[in-house]
Amino acid sequence: MDAGDGKRAVAQAALEYIEMGDVVGVGTGSTADLFIDSLAGIKGKIDGAVASSEASARRLREHGIAVLDLNRVGVLPVYVDGTDEATRHLHLIKGGGGALTREKIAAQASERFVCIAERRKLVATLGAFPLPIEVIPMARSLVGRSIAALGAQPELRAGFTTDNGNIILDAHNLDIQNPVEMERRLNQIPGVVTVGLFALRGADVLLLGGDAGVEALR
Ligand code: 5RP
Repeated sequence: MDAGDGKRAVAQAALEYIEMGDVVGVGTGSTADLFIDSLAGIKGKIDGAVASSEASARRLREHGIAVLDLNRVGVLPVYVDGTDEATRHLHLIKGGGGALTREKIAAQASERFVCIAERRKLVATLGAFPLPIEVIPMARSLVGRSIAALGAQPELRAGFTTDNGNIILDAHNLDIQNPVEMERRLNQIPGVVTVGLFALRGADVLLLGGDAGVEALR
């Protein structure tokens, strides 16, 4: 099984968490794209979707799935999204695609967050993947110094602007022994919009696709 097969398998498996009449929260990235393609096969069953990025909204509309405003929907029964790293505690690093802020909003608004990923995304400790942090442009230098003070190396994601008009600093080599504590700490830095650590509100279910098929961690 190659990486693409694992992604396709979890994208398909996530459909089991969708119920008739749901408005489905939809993430961003290549795995979420495959989920959108799978969702198209059952679009008659759902009432629409809330997208975590302009890119996902476009793909949903191309499939004829109505994209709704979260403010009008309220609580999402289910949110399905990929991840860059995940632990067995269902803590995540997300934001490789730069959509972390809307992803975090959708995850928080959801009753059930189903995270879908290839098996190789499972790690013992988060942080080998540089932690994405969305930052108000004016605070780039301030936040960069704060990250450096934590022993990490901030790197500006060159040529990238988020859907919200902000920048991303990727924090390399951050020592994340306690993801909940680190998320709280980074959230305190003025100018930080969102941290790509999803620990305070992690996933409820992690579907991992690999050679042995799909494994669900809860
Ligand atoms: C986007 C994300 C993605 O979920 C994450 O980057 C995983 O992407 P892919 O499914 O392409 O590996 O957080 O902001």
